[in-house]
Amino acid sequence: MATSSDSSSLLSYGSNVTKGVGRITEGIMTSGKGSYVEYDDGRKMLDFTCGIGVTSMGHCHPKISKAAADQCMNVVHCSIAFHEPYLRLIQKLLPIMPDPSLDSFFFWNSGSEAIEAALKMARIATGRQNIICMQGAYHGRTFGAMAVTRSKTIYSKGVAPLMPGVFTIPFPFWHQLGGKPDMPDDAQVAQCLYQLDLLLAQQTAPADTAAIIIEPVLGEGGYVPAPRAFLEGLRAVCDKHGILLIVDEVQSGFSRTGKFFAIEYSGVRPDIMVVAKGLANGFPLSGVISRKEITDKLTPGSMGGTYAGNAVSCAAACAVVDAMHEENVLTNVNTRSEELFSALNALKSAHPQHILDVRGRGLMVAVEFATPGGPGAARDAVAAPVAATMASRVAKKCIARGMLILTTSVYEVVRFIPPLNISAADLAKGAAIFREAVEEVIREG
Ligand SMILES: Cc1ncc(COP(=O)(O)O)c(C=O)c1O
Repeated sequence: MATSSDSSSLLSYGSNVTKGVGRITEGIMTSGKGSYVEYDDGRKMLDFTCGIGVTSMGHCHPKISKAAADQCMNVVHCSIAFHEPYLRLIQKLLPIMPDPSLDSFFFWNSGSEAIEAALKMARIATGRQNIICMQGAYHGRTFGAMAVTRSKTIYSKGVAPLMPGVFTIPFPFWHQLGGKPDMPDDAQVAQCLYQLDLLLAQQTAPADTAAIIIEPVLGEGGYVPAPRAFLEGLRAVCDKHGILLIVDEVQSGFSRTGKFFAIEYSGVRPDIMVVAKGLANGFPLSGVISRKEITDKLTPGSMGGTYAGNAVSCAAACAVVDAMHEENVLTNVNTRSEELFSALNALKSAHPQHILDVRGRGLMVAVEFATPGGPGAARDAVAAPVAATMASRVAKKCIARGMLILTTSVYEVVRFIPPLNISAADLAKGAAIFREAVEEVIREG
């Protein structure tokens, strides 16, 4: 661990870190255990970010870290043959797939790379070029992933041309449809499926369309679960036209929403599913999962990369799946989720002028504040003047009070991504810190 004099001299190198890399706190994080992290200056913070939905089983989970450490003394890298953790991981994942047709696995490093691979696979398997994505979607910052990202312009500003052949339809989110938070789901779904129908008639013929890509819970777009009827509607359109449905579970997968995969809430079958983040609790690992009928069309060597499916990361991921079963983590997620929703809805009832919406699933939850200006403001349900930029101000106050928390989307949204095995006491502590922060911002105006 760095001493404070080491840290202050090390910190000066912060100015040599490329400006394009973002951070939400100052200082050096020196350790993490369970739901808490510590900084070099002695700060101990409750972590409601999990490093953006990654350390879902808590920091340095003993079983997972040990599995990785043991693997380090065995085989670390092996890109020219199978290694045991890779195959063992497939053995452990097969029984928890949202559909038995998902039987072909390929591991990568990051979510973005896995998205690239999924897009590539869809084009090869269908012999078609075009991809339909969702307004508000986030799929990553590499070129193909960036092209299907529609959550914020910052990710692709100034780097065009992006991958061609990308078309966008609205995701059922009231903001994007000119509605209010109480806009009924069925009206939203009908509008979005109508736009898909029009898109296929006016802009990209089904015969040119390889895939539709969707996050079952819109992440960077504002933490909005896709209604079941929308996912069913997409499935029906895909089936009718031979289009592949790519489901991005990078953020929503691995028990985050109270089921192993968020798509399970709909019962819809993905043709290709992309996973990452919580899969290996912090070790870099992603996966593209499909069915052999699709992946058998690939030429050996056309997918992959030097570090793809690293042995240490795969060993950690095996331990993640085991720990999730052994610790009955889904039950904890669902119980803690009810507690979190009840605390946040109580806060909303106390401040209806300032809090527009509480939404999400499991422990992927968001609070949206009203906005006096900025995107979507004209359509806010609340006309009363409220504090500007509430989400970032509330997040900063939470951090000052000892809790890490993130904003998301172009709207005023704070997101909660606590560890899936968080205790009732720590969850209540986080909810109380959030309440104090919100009320302080409201008082300040
Ligand atoms: C839904 C979704 N897809 C893809 C990605 C990209 O993953 P990565 O940052 O590992 O490249 C993210 C990252 O936040 C994500 O949330």
